[in-house]
Amino acid sequence: EAELIHKFKGISFTTMSSPELLNSLDAFDAREDDVLLVSYPKSGTHWLAGVITKLYNTPVTLTTPIELGDMSKLEELNQLSSKRIIPTHLDYNMLPQHFKNKKCKMIYISRNPKDTAVSMYHYYRENPNLPTVDTWTAFLDLFLEGDVVCGSWFDHFLSWEEHKNDKNILFLFYEDMKRNLPKIVKEISIFLGINASDEDIQDICKQSSFSEMKKDTEKENSDPSHTVCALTSNRKLIFRKGTVGDWKNHFTPKQNLRFDEVFSEKMKFSKMAKHLTY
Ligand code: PPS
Repeated sequence: EAELIHKFKGISFTTMSSPELLNSLDAFDAREDDVLLVSYPKSGTHWLAGVITKLYNTPVTLTTPIELGDMSKLEELNQLSSKRIIPTHLDYNMLPQHFKNKKCKMIYISRNPKDTAVSMYHYYRENPNLPTVDTWTAFLDLFLEGDVVCGSWFDHFLSWEEHKNDKNILFLFYEDMKRNLPKIVKEISIFLGINASDEDIQDICKQSSFSEMKKDTEKENSDPSHTVCALTSNRKLIFRKGTVGDWKNHFTPKQNLRFDEVFSEKMKFSKMAKHLTY
């Protein structure tokens, strides 16, 4: 149980991220045309990955998160000849330096942390590669303390928010994708320099609905964007509910108050706090 997790620079990783790999990330050779898909876990990574891979009409390879694996991971990435779409759950400070120096395009997706916590709780419950949590209450404590895989949601968000106006970074919200997917897909298309037509965008949106993506996991040749999360081979675990506001079915009024207190303290200098509460 304990050996499922280890800490690196104070942040919890599963043993699937080897310390040697984490230690070597800064030396990783980025390419100018790499695209990074950045998120705290359970924020819509797979959804966004599906959209991005469908937008390109040239060959691209969606990899598993750069921090997942052992040293052979970096070798594998070096060998890839097609354009690389690289997901990562790393915070800004831990992101390999060369991606920053080369000003690679990065898309950061974020989600109301209450829904993120609920989604992560269910993932912890169902995924044998993550530590056991007994109750929602116990998990919420861990989440608020930042003692979960990938560390504190707050630290993660704040580290990236500092860079939200960088020209090479596009900041997105899960809730905006739920509200108006075509608008966000268009925004992504422009940001990536792909000239998708309105018809293409309509098509992509249809294929990227929760029910379509969930259905697709049952197909034998299912969409490669479903395999982003190498923490599980059970892709069905990723497509749980796909809604906004499921936190209301989990939080007690007292838990909600406590969360709001922590949120307003941690986010007091954030300019985006309003996007993340409701
Ligand atoms: S992971 O494991 O960190 O990569 O998970 P991630 O993909 O970031 O987040 C999983 C949550 O995203 C929901 N999801 C979707 N919502 C709406 N539409 C689509 N197409 C979609 N695909 C995935 C998924 O259901 C998880 O949220 P919850 O709330 O648990 O359902």
